[in-house]
Amino acid sequence: MLHAKATAALAPVLAALAWQQRDQPLAVCVCISALAGLATWCAVPATVAMFKRAGLSGADLAKPARPVLAESMGVVAATIYLVATFLFIPAQFRGWWWRPTDDHHQPQPHSRHVFPFDRLGEYLSALLSLQSMVFLGFADDVVDLRWRFKLILPTVASVPVLTVYYVGYGVTHVAVPVFMRAWLGTHTVDLGVLYYVYIGMMAVFCTNAINILAGINGVEVGQSIVIALSIVAKDVANINSDNPEAGYHHLFSLYLLLPFVAVSSALYYWNVYPARVFVGDTYCYFAGMTFAVCGILGHFSKTLLLLFVPQIFNFVYSAPQIFGLVPCPRHRLPALAVETALPPALAARLARHRELASADDASSDNDSDAAASGLHRTVSTAMRSFAAANPRPRPRARSGGSAQAQVQATTAYLVPSRTALAGARPLGLLIVRAYERLGLADVERDARGAMTSVNNLTLLNLVLVRSRRRRLGESQLNNRILAIQVLNSAVAFVIRYRLAHVFYD
Ligand code: UD1
Ligand code: MG
Repeated sequence: MLHAKATAALAPVLAALAWQQRDQPLAVCVCISALAGLATWCAVPATVAMFKRAGLSGADLAKPARPVLAESMGVVAATIYLVATFLFIPAQFRGWWWRPTDDHHQPQPHSRHVFPFDRLGEYLSALLSLQSMVFLGFADDVVDLRWRFKLILPTVASVPVLTVYYVGYGVTHVAVPVFMRAWLGTHTVDLGVLYYVYIGMMAVFCTNAINILAGINGVEVGQSIVIALSIVAKDVANINSDNPEAGYHHLFSLYLLLPFVAVSSALYYWNVYPARVFVGDTYCYFAGMTFAVCGILGHFSKTLLLLFVPQIFNFVYSAPQIFGLVPCPRHRLPALAVETALPPALAARLARHRELASADDASSDNDSDAAASGLHRTVSTAMRSFAAANPRPRPRARSGGSAQAQVQATTAYLVPSRTALAGARPLGLLIVRAYERLGLADVERDARGAMTSVNNLTLLNLVLVRSRRRRLGESQLNNRILAIQVLNSAVAFVIRYRLAHVFYD
């Protein structure tokens, strides 16, 4: 086992390094993060059976055989993250372990030994908010919470962070862009309590935005790693800022994100195609809250929003389904299409089965799961009947192998899942028509030209709609989404660091 051997070899080295560098909090943070990553790498496979026994499992819907995998594995990564961040507290404040002494080695009076309680408060409030979201995410995985709780609870979980922001920094005014200054007659606008509503809503948005850009192996964790690494790059570039307060904010963000990147990378190893585990809502909420907390307490909420543009796009694009204007099935992830190089006799039989299956599926057209499983049933049934009709094994060279081998020779790729428009509201239909005009939706029409169905309105399905000429497998689609996320980070940094002076001086 690679992960066990690598952990056994590296863990003692990292622990020794952490001890050697104990006066350098950032170096200790790097070592503790790497240890947390190794621990997650080992703990995930070790706990799979336990999670399945507890009923925490789900079918991998984009695979022909739909294997059942352990669900909510994000809770393992999040727990190890919390352990790592707790253990880092003494190292972070090691500079204050001893009271300073005077020339005669006498301890200085207490008033001269000012422990930075404000910084400890910031760090602890961040951990409290994160812990609450992990708890909420796990509850969602276990009991499937209603949407109203998913919206209210992140707001409540962000209260500790908002309070610390209020008492510690409390700035509620925003700079007015240069071209609006003459019009508004001011350089800054004080948003007052609205500012807290805005940053409170960031917690709701970040957590749910990652959870709805989900459904194929690796994509939830992959996008989170790209966003986290982008913030880490920004922090590293600015850590030696002339303004010590700004430098501290970058350091604070690094202290929270380095262990996050480490545990997420280890989880990604097990969740990427072909997934061995699912990360669950626990991970999505944990990741979203980590970003929200860093953005709020690190004072870079606007840059964070720029890094979240693919998620914002996915949310706006999804809005007609999320707000009930267009029917929204339980799962909107892309559907699986299976194609087999079959002998002519079997191909004819399969075509017949397909016709029957599509007649069956028409009644539940908006259920991509049903459509995918119908197709899988069709292929399996056709294979079985073909094998029964041809009991004698034929020479491999001529036939291409047994019926089972032919199942394995099947090519599977993803197609956009669809939803019927029968129950759509007039406004929903208007939006779908607009999407179609903009090339953002694949609409099916009946003989009279009336819209009958549309692809489920998610970025994953849209990428498939737009790349129809190239068939994408699950892994390729994940890579495309991650490429979009990386490209977005590059554009975000150009806007933030090269174009910002156009809008702000
Ligand atoms: C959100 C999406 C839903 C999407 C789902 C996939 C909205 C409003 N909801 O719902 O459309 O289908 O996430 O996570 O956009 N699964 C896979 N392969 C994967 C990941 C998940 O097949 O790589 C399936 C598994 O059956 C797993 C289930 O999705 O058990 C998890 O779904 P869940 O996270 O509970 O869905 P929601 O977050 O409610
Ligand atoms: Mg989910």
